[in-house]
Amino acid sequence: MRTTVGIIGAGPAGLLLARLLHNAGIDSVVLESRDRAYVEQRQRAGILEQGTVDVLRAAGAGERMDREGLPHDGIELRFDRRRHRVDFPALTGGRSVMVYAQTEVVKDLIALQLGDGGPLFFETEALEVTGAESDHPRIRFRQTDGTEGVLDCHYVVGCDGFWGVSRTAVPATVSRVSERTYPFGWLGILADVPPSHDELVYARHDRGFALLSMRSPVVSRLYLQVPEGTDAADWSDKEIWDELERRLETDDDWTLRRGPVTAKSVTPMRSYVHEPMRHGRLFLAGDAAHIVPPTGAKGLNLAVGDVVTFARALIHRRDTGDTALLDAYSATCLRRVWQAERFSYAMTTMLHRPEDATPFDDRVQRAALDRITSSRSAEADLAESYTGFPLDLPTDPPHDLPGA
Ligand code: APR
Ligand code: PHB
Repeated sequence: MRTTVGIIGAGPAGLLLARLLHNAGIDSVVLESRDRAYVEQRQRAGILEQGTVDVLRAAGAGERMDREGLPHDGIELRFDRRRHRVDFPALTGGRSVMVYAQTEVVKDLIALQLGDGGPLFFETEALEVTGAESDHPRIRFRQTDGTEGVLDCHYVVGCDGFWGVSRTAVPATVSRVSERTYPFGWLGILADVPPSHDELVYARHDRGFALLSMRSPVVSRLYLQVPEGTDAADWSDKEIWDELERRLETDDDWTLRRGPVTAKSVTPMRSYVHEPMRHGRLFLAGDAAHIVPPTGAKGLNLAVGDVVTFARALIHRRDTGDTALLDAYSATCLRRVWQAERFSYAMTTMLHRPEDATPFDDRVQRAALDRITSSRSAEADLAESYTGFPLDLPTDPPHDLPGA
């Protein structure tokens, strides 16, 4: 098998990249280790920045999102039983976000890819990437029946998430890893009940962080900060609702609606960046290169930024022969990645309560919230970061791709 771009992983990064390349007339092959049902049901955040929405529309993948997604013009910050709304369009010159579950983005992209007959192989695990420093990198893979094969490529893009293999093809001598773990995770539930508020609520409470989110007008998604290593099975549904109610309580007559819990899981929290994001003809994109804690809802949006940057650079190379944008790929992506890392870290530390929090930590958290809720410029900074960082480039964008 041979192709121009070998893509490892059919998460949002790999699938969107295949679509952008297909639209530009560049062939690719996607290899995904899991089966289609698993990939389509994996629960992740679903907050799409304005730039992500624009990219999906321009890629021809926005039709159902525009019908079923929920445009959101703000979030609520909740602390000390008070409620404060952050108005995104008013603070950012008109930007907002879209609530559309990552599972749905993935389903839409898979349907498009398979509809076009685009090569997308499920249950096909990449075993290793070789020859990244040559003109012809290769992906060795194995299918579930044990058959092994090799995909010859001009470029390989590792979109295989944090646990994938592509990152290991970058020699340790050139890799730089920056990492931080947190002593807590998120216990998340899906519940068949209309959301108790029409926008997301981020709550800081002495008992820990809580988040009210949603998947649709009839499905709520809620999270509780829990100690690292917590087993979701240790929490009964009633205990979860009681704890959510405590952490989300307010002085007004707001109430939390309860409903049947349909899924329950714990997400660990991590900040991680692998630099550089390119080695020879191997490019890393999305979670394969970086992880953010979910508090800023940036994971999917960063993945989109990476693959748009790669697609633009490759189209530019094809059309002009110039490799400058491919050469700048890592630096271009990392600038945005580090803004998202900074923001996600700041949101996480402002809103979560570590078990060993000191009175000083508490007061600083409250001061940070006081600042955001009393200074328009501090609030605008949060709104700008939340609604997204531009997909900027070191040179003028050569192509008619979104976000230019
Ligand atoms: N071979 C083939 N596929 C692999 C391999 C491998 N060796 N290892 C992992 N994969 C697949 C995984 O099964 C998964 O489907 O790669 C895919 C990676 O997808 P994600 O983990 O979703 O990563 P990414 O596409 O970068 O997602 C970006 O969106 O999914 C959200 O919030 C999530 O931050 C993440 C963001
Ligand atoms: C979600 O809906 O799953 C979600 C929303 C916002 C976040 C994280 C997760 O910051």
